[in-house]
Amino acid sequence: MSKIQERVFSGIQPTGNLHLGNYLGAIKRFVPLQNDYDCIYCVVDLHAITASMQNPAELADNIREVTAAFLAAGIDPQKHIVFNQSQVAEHAELAWIFNCVARMGWLSRMTQFKDKAGKDREKASVGLFAYPSLMAADILTYRATHVPVGEDQKQHLELTRDIAQKFNNDYSERISDLGLGEAMMVGDEKVQGYFPLTEPLIGGPAARVMSLRDGAKKMSKSDPSDLSRIVMTDNSDAIAKKIRKAKTDPNPLPETLEGLVDRPDADNLVGIYAALSDTDKASVLSEYAGAQFGTFKPALVELAVEKIGPIAAEMRRLQADPAEIDAVLANGADRAREIASRVLVDVKEIIGFVGARR
Ligand code: AMP
Ligand code: TRP
Repeated sequence: MSKIQERVFSGIQPTGNLHLGNYLGAIKRFVPLQNDYDCIYCVVDLHAITASMQNPAELADNIREVTAAFLAAGIDPQKHIVFNQSQVAEHAELAWIFNCVARMGWLSRMTQFKDKAGKDREKASVGLFAYPSLMAADILTYRATHVPVGEDQKQHLELTRDIAQKFNNDYSERISDLGLGEAMMVGDEKVQGYFPLTEPLIGGPAARVMSLRDGAKKMSKSDPSDLSRIVMTDNSDAIAKKIRKAKTDPNPLPETLEGLVDRPDADNLVGIYAALSDTDKASVLSEYAGAQFGTFKPALVELAVEKIGPIAAEMRRLQADPAEIDAVLANGADRAREIASRVLVDVKEIIGFVGARR
């Protein structure tokens, strides 16, 4: 019984307003994983049309913007794979199969669907409902074992495991008859399956970056207030203004982490500082305990400008040459397809479709 090869996969939607939460919660964490794993980083454009129709020219710009952010942050598209989802048809094909594995009840419990569909569910697209099975397909068409994401994606990754496990169970005999099973651990038990039970990689001080206007809401692309988020293309003045105006409370910073409980706005700024400076919140507090926001905010502005500025500048440089970005995506898509198509042949054979290996 061979052991499944470890691989990292993650995706970002090209829906504009790429913000500090996306960077600190996801993209920045993608970078060091390149040293330990084969990584696939995907611009998930098929997901971007689930919530609403996107202006075609803007969608194309947004796909290139996320790609530029990957490259500017330090992802190496030669050693690893960077591409946009719609160029590899296997994602949508496997998603259909997973639509037939996932249960209505599972998808109905997804909080992201409930949030995004809002009160009028009748008007939500079928794609918005089926979104998590496409996400499971993104991951499992590469049989990825590790997925770095922000905290908000935890439930979708649990669903991905449920889909993998149901597929493995439903077809267990067929998988072993065909010799396609791989060894994996489920809890303490060693089992055979075709799809791995993917591990989420969630954590660090910025797994959930909150709105700068309201520490109880997550920083999001769709918040109507521009002051709620720092976007990757903000210049120094915009970054400074947004941090200066960030909501805080009147107390100085505490000495310990317990002192941040019930202070969501303070907790958020400390978390952002920690993530930008590659440390943890406790170390930030040991430096700034007792400091007023009048001292801490300017320090945070300086740090944010120092860390985000060069990435934004590199993004602008890359975005000035769309042909170069498109070439990266085309090359990545060709290499991704090679892996994905082999998995789809296996899956079709497992299910019993005729002509799978032709
Ligand atoms: P999306 O823009 O929804 O495609 O999200 C892309 C990635 O950014 C995912 O891994 C999310 O979990 C992560 N992310 C989005 N918003 C935040 C946030 N406010 N804090 C931390 N991570 C986030
Ligand atoms: N749903 C993710 C988000 O909104 C984006 C995404 C799509 C993704 N497919 C993925 C993330 C696969 C990780 C792995 O943030």
